[in-house]
Amino acid sequence: AIDITRLYGQAGVFTYDPGFVSTASCHSSITYIDGNEGILRYRGYPIEQLAEKSTFIEVAYLLLYGELPAAEELNGFRDIITHHTMVNEALLRFFEGYHYDAHPMAMMVGVVGSLAGFYHDSLDIYDSHHRDICAHRLIAKIPTIAAACHKHNIGEPVMYPRNDLSYSANFMHMLKGTPCEDYEVDPLAERALDLLFILHADHEQNASTSTVRLAGSSGANPFACVAAGITSLWGPAHGGANEAVLKMLEEIGHVGNIDKYIARAKDKDDPYRLMGFGHRVYKNYDPRARIIRSVCHQVLDKLADSNNPLFEMALKLEEIAANDEYFLERKLYPNVDFYSGIIYRALGIPDNMFTVMFAIARTVGWVAHWTEMVSDPHFRIGRPRQIYDGAPQRDYVPMADRG
Ligand code: ACO
Repeated sequence: AIDITRLYGQAGVFTYDPGFVSTASCHSSITYIDGNEGILRYRGYPIEQLAEKSTFIEVAYLLLYGELPAAEELNGFRDIITHHTMVNEALLRFFEGYHYDAHPMAMMVGVVGSLAGFYHDSLDIYDSHHRDICAHRLIAKIPTIAAACHKHNIGEPVMYPRNDLSYSANFMHMLKGTPCEDYEVDPLAERALDLLFILHADHEQNASTSTVRLAGSSGANPFACVAAGITSLWGPAHGGANEAVLKMLEEIGHVGNIDKYIARAKDKDDPYRLMGFGHRVYKNYDPRARIIRSVCHQVLDKLADSNNPLFEMALKLEEIAANDEYFLERKLYPNVDFYSGIIYRALGIPDNMFTVMFAIARTVGWVAHWTEMVSDPHFRIGRPRQIYDGAPQRDYVPMADRG
């Protein structure tokens, strides 16, 4: 706490907390994390149980509405999401404006933000029905836009959604199918993708969710707020880590080189960090990483070469770090994205789409938090303060008198 009386001539105290390490910005009843115990719960349900027994659509309902749905509620919700998957045809023409090799996250920022220009018939944030419509549209349309980003990159026609498929199978159909050939997703791949979506769906006040909340706190258009969340997610310290992990493993190249990279990560004169390691909140194993690591075994055994060298290297890296003082002292363990890229690659998803996959899943968390915030009776604009440490008052110097 800092006494601001001297700085601002008014009595009061500011807490100065760079990076918001210990400042709660809100009350929330969506997700619970105990970083020391490695616990994650959505609406009270342990992530391990949801990962084993639930589906992404059911988890989306749970995060949005607070309770597991009854069969009829789930069918109704699935039906609504399925029937909102199309996007306005004019929106698809936006892609023509992007360079053929634009990063899909760059296109996501622009095209998702542009939804605000199309779907503006239900924007009364104080009306719960309007809020639901925005949430449903976002959850339904994001995969369609995401797949279209990839199709633009590879110069193939956009595939329209199929209403007879599950959320995850439909995404794979839009990503991998062509008008000449349907893409049949392997049931294990469909389940693995659904599981990754469940694990990434929410994580309380992370950087992107806090961005969505802060943008939304001014009453801004929710589609534009989610575009702001996508922007924040893109960074390598956040959602961009999954793509960075694969790059890192490829750069390491061989288990024999791991020690060299570990040494670089420990060198305080080198900004190099092990991607997919460490977490602001988890000071114990990230429970999502544990689940993903075991799914990696199943997926790689069935869908790809069971001796996948990248997976072997990742396991070895984890083992070496787990016995290294530097990582132990700082409580640096693999996070959710250490193993996710390996599964995405085994499913045939291109590396530059990994962070987009995260964005698809996290859209549910973003809209759940946006809804929670705007329906709070104490809803008000977010406005952090600062400790000013610039020049004191001084007089304007005419150009001729400046040294
Ligand atoms: N490799 C090497 N050292 C690390 C790493 C790492 N991956 N992560 C943290 N450290 C070290 C820091 O250098 C620091 O050391 P010091 O105390 O000697 O100065 C100490 O551990 C604490 O690190 P901070 O940066 O203060 O931790 P913070 O909570 O601010 O950052 C973060 C957390 C961003 C996740 C960090 O661990 C990191 O950069 N990891 C790599 C990127 C990554 O995997 N991001 C994904 C996060 S999960 C997600 O968003 C889904």
